[in-house]
Amino acid sequence: MKILGVSGSPIKNSNTDRAVKTVLEATGAETEFIKLSELEIEPCRACLGCVDTNECVIGDDGNMLAEKARQADGLVVGGYTPYSSIDGRTKAFLERLYPLRHKHGFMNGKSGVAVVTCAIPEDCEGMPPACESGANSIFYYMMEEGMNFLGSVRIRGNIPCISCGYGDDCQMAGLKMIFGPEATLDTVGVNTFETQAETEKAARELGAGLRDAII
Ligand SMILES: Cc1cc2nc3c(=O)[nH]c(=O)nc-3n(C[C@H](O)[C@H](O)[C@H](O)COP(=O)(O)O)c2cc1C
Repeated sequence: MKILGVSGSPIKNSNTDRAVKTVLEATGAETEFIKLSELEIEPCRACLGCVDTNECVIGDDGNMLAEKARQADGLVVGGYTPYSSIDGRTKAFLERLYPLRHKHGFMNGKSGVAVVTCAIPEDCEGMPPACESGANSIFYYMMEEGMNFLGSVRIRGNIPCISCGYGDDCQMAGLKMIFGPEATLDTVGVNTFETQAETEKAARELGAGLRDAII
């Protein structure tokens, strides 16, 4: 049993990375973790050049990733939510699995899990549903490829204003946009995956569920 995990987060050892790795570890299976920002991967060109060959015409790392996905029994896809949609690397990765679709449906019937990190809390009034939107992007890929979507791990992440150096002064600071006019760097604090016990538990349970779905 082989399980492939990818993270679209470019931040070194990010919340998304660590959560994907936790799901992978909980499977107890042979796993591989790939950080997409260390590779070159364009979005799909919609040229249909992959229809006869099941291989993409683009000469970057996309075909290597698609081959790993084809060989895997399960998939853990992690991303974050700039402008409250799934990030570009994760989206490009999903699009580039399109060659696996034609005639054979190579991903059909495999099981998968989504991992999403967002700065906007799930119940934040007046703000976009970032986590829902990010998780749905991954879910919809799996749904449309006939995969067995087991669920999502949703991590409370940090807005970049936490570390940019101007978080308390910038007129566009997301801190106040999300948490109200009185919010400061001190009152908001820093979120980490490891301090979110329920989320970590969900990651471990989904990992175990992924193993059980494949056996
Ligand atoms: C350019 C940019 C825009 C962002 N916009 C949003 C947003 O609209 N909604 C949101 O929930 N998070 C937003 N974020 C915050 C990321 O989702 C957050 O940084 C996330 O915690 C990163 O995950 P990581 O720690 O795994 O890398 C944005 C981040 C960046 C870099």
